[in-house]
Amino acid sequence: MIPQDFIQTLLDRVDIVDVVERYVPLKKAGANYQARCPFHNEKSPSFTVSPTKQFYHCFGCGAHGTAITFLMQHTGMGFVEAVKELASRTGMQVPDDGTRNNPEDGRREQLYELMETAAHFYKGELKNNAAAVAYLKNRGLTGEAAARYGLGYAPDDWQGLARAVADYQDKALEEAGLIIAGEGGKRYDRFRHRVMFPIKNERGKVIAFGGRVLDKGEPKYLNSPETPLFHKGRELYGLHEARRAIQSAGRVIVVEGYMDVVMLAQHGVENAVATLGTAVTSDQVERLLRLADAIVFAFDGDAAGRKAAWRALENSLPQVVDGKRLGFLFLPEGEDPDSYVRGHGRAAFEALLDKALPLSQFLLDEMATKTDLTSPEGKVRLVKLTEPYLDQMRKAPLLARSLRRQLASMSGMPSRAQARFTPGAPSVSIQKRGGQPSPYRVVLQALIQDPARVARLPEVLPNDASPEAQALTGLMARLRQQAGLRLTRHVVESYREQPEQTLMEEAEAAVLVWEETEHDVEADFRGALATLEEHAGRQAATDLSRKQLHELSPDERVRFLRSLQAKKLSVLASAGEGDGRGDSD
Ligand code: UTP
Ligand code: MN
Repeated sequence: MIPQDFIQTLLDRVDIVDVVERYVPLKKAGANYQARCPFHNEKSPSFTVSPTKQFYHCFGCGAHGTAITFLMQHTGMGFVEAVKELASRTGMQVPDDGTRNNPEDGRREQLYELMETAAHFYKGELKNNAAAVAYLKNRGLTGEAAARYGLGYAPDDWQGLARAVADYQDKALEEAGLIIAGEGGKRYDRFRHRVMFPIKNERGKVIAFGGRVLDKGEPKYLNSPETPLFHKGRELYGLHEARRAIQSAGRVIVVEGYMDVVMLAQHGVENAVATLGTAVTSDQVERLLRLADAIVFAFDGDAAGRKAAWRALENSLPQVVDGKRLGFLFLPEGEDPDSYVRGHGRAAFEALLDKALPLSQFLLDEMATKTDLTSPEGKVRLVKLTEPYLDQMRKAPLLARSLRRQLASMSGMPSRAQARFTPGAPSVSIQKRGGQPSPYRVVLQALIQDPARVARLPEVLPNDASPEAQALTGLMARLRQQAGLRLTRHVVESYREQPEQTLMEEAEAAVLVWEETEHDVEADFRGALATLEEHAGRQAATDLSRKQLHELSPDERVRFLRSLQAKKLSVLASAGEGDGRGDSD
């Protein structure tokens, strides 16, 4: 691990504006700099870099972070690599124990190397194997397309990899999923006599393989197992190769098969990725929506395709964002994207894409087929069945509302929550008051703007289970433990890969907006503090009044009396307003 204080000093010495400007042309806009976001496709600039706070935030896709994060996201460097790069620019020396100290990192590095070695070996073997080459040619694949995706061939040999690796006995080979250790210590290659599709992560490192039989055989595709490098539900085949095309098209196509991706690219459709033999996951949708404003899922036109599409829809709902489009394309019976583009060409395939069913329509169509809309019972059933799906669309309140309206007209009955603006909003006690942000959020944001404010916070906060209160408690503890976290960029960096990410993103966005306006953060902060203190006081009073007065410690007694006094004052104040409702007790 690189020590935290080194990271902080580093962030103090580099200027994020310089770092970003090397890759993205920035324009000064008020206190900040702006550009069209390099991480998603957009027409007007929502990517903002703050020179005073030393972080960036995209109001469109939510990408955000420090100079370190920027290098990682933009160039695909790892954390350590990015730190080293910045350090070398400022003439700083990364502490020597940097990487070697973490055995976990070393282990992963070793696995990456093995995967690379294997990919290289399989690629070489393809050149030597006439049958494999003939198979691919026969499927209409060109040499360029095969090279672009690094296709290979695993020889028909029990220990073929022994020719490529230094030590066939190495346990890491098993861990990487490349060999299988059978009973009696027999070790053999997992992949034999198969065409090999290397699966890369977004940074382009090989993390797994899919292997296809040449002839008839089971299974048709054999995939790497889950390993420390490979989690099927997260990765997408072809994402590394497609990334640029996805960003420039603003659209990504999700297909089911390796061959579909390769063949589409061969025909000039370069923005396609494939799931890895599983249903589309919510995680995958979230990743893709960061890159593009539109996703089209292309499924086979059979019953299995329809089912897979429905699973994709279900898993997408929590990730759908207003303004982004998800479409579902069903290919003609018996076709998949590979055969379709081969038979009809790129233009015909793209014409199909444009006719994809929007998510909203697919959802309502599918629901309508499950119910009989000619009877009142059927209409009720339609509403009952559909509501839970709409409730999941937390990130797309406008689309959900529009769907509720359609549902109402289809069923002829007002939908339960037609008037409700944000479906499924968390029902935490003081999260929102009349549309105002909760005092926790205000304090959280003020703290991020200036972490030194932590000195003015009360020792403990009121008991509150809301995510915002929890995040604030966490941040307070962190700031108190680590005196070095005194600037916004330090705080942002310390949240790397923490669960509070979304809250932090929102808080950062608010801080950037404040820099552009005359917003009086200090006044808000003081107001929120007062609210929290009052709230804490009331909570303490409730707790204390459950005890007998003589059970109280002197400290508690004072707090109790103070809280009574506060109550009186507020009663007096409201009586003074003359609303005529003598509500004193
Ligand atoms: P398909 O059976 O639709 O095959 O599997 P395909 O992609 O059209 O393959 P070709 O054209 O016959 O070569 C779609 C995807 O499901 C996964 C693979 O990821 C495959 O690309 N799959 C399929 C497996 O993982 N294992 C299998 O046995 C079959
Ligand atoms: Mn196919």
